[in-house]
Amino acid sequence: MNQQQFKSAYKIWTGSGSTKQVKHEVERLKMKKPLIVSDRIIADAGLLEEVCDHLDTVSYGTFLEVQPEPAFAVIEACKRVFLEGDHDGFIAIGGGSAIDTAKAASVYATYDGDLSDFVGTDLVPKKGAPLIAIPTTAGTGSEVTNIAILSDKEAQLKKGIASDFLLPDVAIVSPEMTRTAPQHVTAASGIDAMVHGIEAYLSVNASPLTDALALQSITMIARSLPKAYTNAHFLEAREEMATASLMAGMAFGNAGVGAVHALAYPLGGRFNMAHGVSNALLLPFVMEMNKPACLERLGDIATALGEKTTGLSLNEAADRAILAMTRLCAQVNIPASLKAFDIEKSDLEAMADDASKIDRLLKNNPRQLTKKEIYEIYQAAYEGRIAR
Ligand SMILES: NC(=O)c1ccc[n+]([C@@H]2O[C@H](COP(=O)([O-])OP(=O)(O)OC[C@H]3O[C@@H](n4cnc5c(N)ncnc54)[C@H](O)[C@@H]3O)[C@@H](O)[C@H]2O)c1
Ligand SMILES: [Fe+2]
Repeated sequence: MNQQQFKSAYKIWTGSGSTKQVKHEVERLKMKKPLIVSDRIIADAGLLEEVCDHLDTVSYGTFLEVQPEPAFAVIEACKRVFLEGDHDGFIAIGGGSAIDTAKAASVYATYDGDLSDFVGTDLVPKKGAPLIAIPTTAGTGSEVTNIAILSDKEAQLKKGIASDFLLPDVAIVSPEMTRTAPQHVTAASGIDAMVHGIEAYLSVNASPLTDALALQSITMIARSLPKAYTNAHFLEAREEMATASLMAGMAFGNAGVGAVHALAYPLGGRFNMAHGVSNALLLPFVMEMNKPACLERLGDIATALGEKTTGLSLNEAADRAILAMTRLCAQVNIPASLKAFDIEKSDLEAMADDASKIDRLLKNNPRQLTKKEIYEIYQAAYEGRIAR
């Protein structure tokens, strides 16, 4: 067996009401004046209070300028507020966008060069200020991963900073924090978590540890996402989604994600599509292209999704996984074709060009994809049908 490492946040709290652990963790990390990183929607939903009420006498500042799929400029602004306010730690409250902003700002705040110096793998020189991540979506898993994903508006691309110095010190995963998420956010972030589980399980770097987390998260999301989507107050489903997205984050944080995420980057970068939506649109088509390279594992995924696979051939079982995912995406009202967005067929070539350069993710994919195959996936996703 190859030697492998497993990384995650240093400490993880789970369960309803676990936000009350925030004060203890702030003190343990010796934060005297943390900066809360979030946005106004989350503040208006009352989620800051759910955390700040527990901070008691701790003095803190707020940065509420996070935007979805954060641009480099947002990190610059966050760094300015951190330094001007003499802060010494971060508490991120939000979805992947807020957590990624805080993760990137934590290492950038003490760095003199350009933020773009960090884009890529292992280019961050040292750990930054301590960070507590409190997710409000279920979700990106960013609370336990070593990645921050930012939008490069000029290059029209999403870019990743991957460094172990981004691993949060503490993740507090309290399911009621996701209750106020709008339905479309529950859908997109829930499918994102599912894609993390599926891509981690299919990754060439999968291990017994990541397999266990990935398969279990797939089962939990298949069972709970439709319930959390149809009734925001179904706390049991929210609880299962919060834990599952955390587990999927731990799985992909170590095994990596593959072609779905690589091909989704140009959709986010060029067309501002929400991360989970772009993943959902591409997933069945990437699964279909990957099929010859991972038939058995796709069959395992079908079983984890709750499909009956006994008596089926490997090929039929793999098809069940693809169909089940197409059905789940439809159930949470995610369009089935790129045509539903402002995308022209003539855009696909440039998108394939951009995606084919994202080697950091493509190298994890079970099938090594050529640029032509990447183009074919976009074409199938544009037409909205699997080419058989
Ligand atoms: N670092 C990682 O490991 C990782 C993994 C996957 C995705 N991402 C990144 O995360 C970002 C997407 O994050 P996301 O899907 O969590 O969405 P998000 O953070 O972009 O939030 C989407 C919208 O929902 C709102 N919102 C979030 N939670 C809410 C709540 N509980 N109540 C009311 N409103 C709420 C936000 O204010 C925002 O307007 C993308 O930039 C993506 O690339 C990062
Ligand atoms: Fe993702």
